Amino acid sequence: MLGIKHLTKRFDSFTALLDVSLEVKNGEFVCLLGPSGCGKTSLLRLAAGLDSPTEGELFLDGKKIEGVNKECGFVFQEYVLFPWRTVKGNIEFGPEIRGIQKEECERISQHYIDLVGLKGFENHYPHELSGGMKQRVGIARAYANNPKLLLMDEPFGALDAQTRNIMQGELLRIWEKEHISVLFVTHSVDEAVYLADRVVVMSARPGTVKEIFEIKIPRPRVRTGPAANAMRDQILKSLGTEIKKASGLK
Ligand SMILES: Nc1ncnc2c1ncn2[C@@H]1O[C@H](COP(=O)(O)OP(=O)(O)OP(=O)(O)O)[C@@H](O)[C@H]1O
Ligand SMILES: [Mg+2]
Repeated sequence: MLGIKHLTKRFDSFTALLDVSLEVKNGEFVCLLGPSGCGKTSLLRLAAGLDSPTEGELFLDGKKIEGVNKECGFVFQEYVLFPWRTVKGNIEFGPEIRGIQKEECERISQHYIDLVGLKGFENHYPHELSGGMKQRVGIARAYANNPKLLLMDEPFGALDAQTRNIMQGELLRIWEKEHISVLFVTHSVDEAVYLADRVVVMSARPGTVKEIFEIKIPRPRVRTGPAANAMRDQILKSLGTEIKKASGLK
C-alpha cells in the first residue's frame, strides 16, 4: 500500500528525517511514536504529498507519490477546517469534489456526523465549536473521503479520555469494515498498543526508524492484561531512551 524508501528530508541544512524506510501493508494499522521534533508530522506530510522528499521515494500501491495524494485522508494536529463552511459543508467537501450527487453527499455527511457525535451541530461554523469538536469534524471529513490510506497526526490528542476511547473504538470499527490502511502518529504508548498491528519507534532527530514492534494481541483487544502490559514496557523502554536523547538528558 504505502512504501517509503530511503527517505531523507532536509529543511535547508537541517536534517529532519534520515534514510527512513517503512511499509504500511494493505489493511495494516501502523502507529508511529517518537520524541517531539523527530519528524513524525514531516513524514505524514510527505506521505500525503504535501511536501516533497530531499532524497528517496514514496509509493502508493506501487505508484510514486508526486503532488497531493488524493487517495488518502488526513487528520492533522491543528484543525484545518474551512471557516466559511459549516460542519456539514466541511464533511461534504470531499464527496462533492469527487462528483458525488448532492443527496448522497448529505447521506454520507450525516452518517459520519452521527458517528463522531456531532449530531445537532450540522449547521455550526468552525468558530462556534470547541477544539475537540473541530478535531472530530476533521476526522469525519477524512472518513467521508473514503480513503485507501488514512494518515492521522495525533488525532485524538485534544480529546478528553472518555471521548478518546470512544473515538479509538470507532476508528477500529471503520478500519476493519472498510479495509483501509492507517498510519497513525501518537505520543501515547497505551494508544499505540491498543490500536496497532505494528508500532514504529523513531529515534531522536534526525528521525530514523529505531525499532519496530509487532503487536500480536488478538482483536477485539482489552486495554489492560499481561500481554498489553509487557508490550507497553518494551516500547516505553525503547522510546524513553530517545526522549532522553532529544531532551539532552543522560
Ligand atoms: N517547514 C519547515 N521548515 C523548517 N523546519 C521544519 C519545517 N517543518 C518541520 N521542521 C523541523 O523538522 C523537525 C521535525 O518536525 P516535525 O513537526 O515533523 O516533528 P514531530 O515529530 O511531528 O514533533 P511533535 O511530536 O512535536 O509533533 C523539527 O525540528 C522542525 O523544527
Ligand atoms: Mg508533529
